[in-house]
Amino acid sequence: MDLMEYQAKELFAKHGVPVTLGTVITEASDAAAAAEQNGGRVVVKAQVKIGGRGKAGGVKLAQDPQDAVAKAEEILGMDIKGHTVRRVLIAPAADIAEEYYFSFLLDRANRNYLCIASIEGGVEIEVTAKENPDAVAKVAIDPQVGVDEAKAREIVEATRFPAEVAEQAVGVVQQLWQVFVEEDATLVEVNPLVRLGDGTLEALDGKVSLDANAEFRHEDHASFELVEDEDPLELAAKEKDLNYVKLDGSVGIIGNGAGLVMSTLDVVAYAGEKHGGVKPANFLDIGGGASADVMADGLHIIISDEQVKAVFVNVFGGITACDAVANGIVGALRKLGDEETKPLVVRLDGNNVEEGRRILLEADHPMVTLVDTMDGAADKAAELAHDLQNA
Ligand SMILES: Nc1ncnc2c1ncn2[C@@H]1O[C@H](COP(=O)(O)OP(=O)(O)OP(=O)(O)O)[C@@H](O)[C@H]1O
Ligand SMILES: [Mg+2]
Repeated sequence: MDLMEYQAKELFAKHGVPVTLGTVITEASDAAAAAEQNGGRVVVKAQVKIGGRGKAGGVKLAQDPQDAVAKAEEILGMDIKGHTVRRVLIAPAADIAEEYYFSFLLDRANRNYLCIASIEGGVEIEVTAKENPDAVAKVAIDPQVGVDEAKAREIVEATRFPAEVAEQAVGVVQQLWQVFVEEDATLVEVNPLVRLGDGTLEALDGKVSLDANAEFRHEDHASFELVEDEDPLELAAKEKDLNYVKLDGSVGIIGNGAGLVMSTLDVVAYAGEKHGGVKPANFLDIGGGASADVMADGLHIIISDEQVKAVFVNVFGGITACDAVANGIVGALRKLGDEETKPLVVRLDGNNVEEGRRILLEADHPMVTLVDTMDGAADKAAELAHDLQNA
């Protein structure tokens, strides 16, 4: 789960990283009071889970509370790379002397942790890395040791933090490592980490990604999930415990097993190239026991997606044999009744496939087409989606 800046800063504060929390508002009219609370002269910052907010006009300085209202009005509702701004953070305008870049991340390629830091911060680190690679320090971290004081010193030296902030930086680096480890993060990034006019360090921005696999040991992280920001279909799927991800295409997809569903997405995208470029509309793994209820829940969610024109049900019978799945599909169609108005292309294979196909043929549902192969079924589903899209 990716956090917004204000949420990341809450975690920073918990571990002693110097930050100013500020005030989050959703209505521009609240900006005046929020600005008063934060010293009058403030920055108004869009809270969205995407980088480059400043460049997109989502970070603005306000001279006084009235100006803060005007800036909040401009930023709230703004679209930043497909993310609608529903909240802004009002924070005291900082007296910035220098901007640095700092991050801890999971280095998958090297099966390790990595610190990337630079005294040329504030801008995109990718740009600095390209134009001035010497200004970017990369320090590998032994997971068995982590970042103790000696390691923090090594990082501070490699980054070439100015002498006047070096001692402070040793502390901040260790505090950020605490955030990384104790919160089970896969990324902790501060851009910019600043030196203020009075010589102290402060994290002016924060980006944190939390490892969803460790959710169970962080009850307090649940409050970071903002229900109104979630896709309504994904939310409905979550309520039914379905493993669903909404995508942008028009071919709905249901399969059993994450690997099969992933390859179904590929096959449909490939087949779609021959049919006007239609694409998969979602990922949905209904798992092992494809009962009528689970199948009906899954189908219901997929056909409620207005973008979906045709659905591809791709099932490989294993422990749950094809006849059970076929009965699940027939039961689901009965359950959905008139709601099922979109064509379904079904491909069954594996354990007890003959009986599964027989059950579907016998049910003879007008919206169902049986295709024996995965490629053939993908092609049929893509063709139907394309035709219906242009009908
Ligand atoms: N509290 C503040 N006071 C003064 N200036 C600020 C403050 N917060 C941010 N800025 C300035 O705005 C710039 C952009 O802010 P910030 O880093 O938070 O957003 P961003 O980099 O555009 O967003 P992202 O990191 O998501 O790409 C900073 O580099 C800094 O110069
Ligand atoms: Mg930033």
